[in-house]
Amino acid sequence: MANINENYLKLKAGYLFPEIAKRVKAYSEKNPSAKVIRLGIGDVTLPIVPSIVDAMVSASKEMGTSEGFHGYGPEQGYSFLLKSIAENDYAPLGIKIDENEIFVSDGSKCDCGNIQEIFSTDAKIAVADPVYPVYVDTNVMAGRTGEIGSDGRYSNLIYMPATRENGFQPEIPKEKADIVYLCYPNNPTGAVTTKEALKAWVEYAKKNNSIILYDSAYEAFISEPDVPRSIYEVEGAKEVAIEFRSFSKTAGFTGLRCAYIVIPKELKGRTRSGEEVSINSLWSRRHTTKFNGVSYVTQKGAEACFSPQGKKEIQTSIGYYMSNAAKIRDGLKKAGYEVFGGINAPYIWLKTSDNLSSWDFFDRLLNQAQVVGTPGSGFGPAGEGYFRLSAFGKKEDVEAAIARISAL
Ligand code: MLT
Repeated sequence: MANINENYLKLKAGYLFPEIAKRVKAYSEKNPSAKVIRLGIGDVTLPIVPSIVDAMVSASKEMGTSEGFHGYGPEQGYSFLLKSIAENDYAPLGIKIDENEIFVSDGSKCDCGNIQEIFSTDAKIAVADPVYPVYVDTNVMAGRTGEIGSDGRYSNLIYMPATRENGFQPEIPKEKADIVYLCYPNNPTGAVTTKEALKAWVEYAKKNNSIILYDSAYEAFISEPDVPRSIYEVEGAKEVAIEFRSFSKTAGFTGLRCAYIVIPKELKGRTRSGEEVSINSLWSRRHTTKFNGVSYVTQKGAEACFSPQGKKEIQTSIGYYMSNAAKIRDGLKKAGYEVFGGINAPYIWLKTSDNLSSWDFFDRLLNQAQVVGTPGSGFGPAGEGYFRLSAFGKKEDVEAAIARISAL
């Protein structure tokens, strides 16, 4: 028998979303006639928009010809997509990103989970609490934390509580963190940040030689002016930050799989002996070794997101989800709930009723309203007593869910 990586034994029982799915399956088996509405995992429900479908159909046809066939593509992504990303996602913000600073991948979950591999195993990690569980769990797996305590916190991990009291803004740690994970618009709280706050993070990172891992997967859902869309809007951020973006929620690619990360050339790490190393080259080495690129057909679909018609169609889908978000917010408020988020993000973060724990509230909603959401405590101890609803459902389902919750 081979020895295992015992860090895995430190993990809490199961990953959050499969755990929810397991409970819902058990409920549905016992109650086969119940019409369960799923607003738990943030999975999109609208079909892929026509311009993307057309682009993928035509790319598939190309693949069936000897001139248009593509085998392994460049691991980093096809130049046509890298160029479109730089021109459409960054140039309009006045940010210059070169093609070789972008790495296309099969999803932000994988990117956020894999990035830690290129940092030292003793790097000190800081995460918000509540937080997207991937940031924590992948560092636990890598051995950067100790055991989990009775308070639900892993030792040797810096937690930055994001609470109602601080407007769900994780506070800058007093101590030095080597790696800081930030997510804006935030999953799970739906909070956004300001340029001023990001400036303070960039200053912190410069002072402490930290690297910020900035997860911007929900950027497309920002509706208010002046909310920063990229950390690179802050001067000097390229020296300290990696940015993650995804086509999953923006363009309905949860099943197609396509995302990217930006690693500016200015960003440097250090060896133990103090020698500077390019993070971009390190990641490139990792990416080209472990990944064979996103399929040509999918990348052609992703490229179509940036055509004028593609942009228009995607905006319609985003508008649909954000109108769901408004319905959830307003409906819950009317029903007496305290709600947050849902304005610049597709998630609504609510205080549970009757001071129920997050999982008790989950059970109440499932058993009495047949509505599935995500318990806040699944995102970290500071999420206890909160609950997340996703706006990615079908409009009719969202309306029915809110009517059922209001009637409780
Ligand atoms: C979520 O529900 O938090 C997301 O769907 C998770 C993910 O994007 O992996």
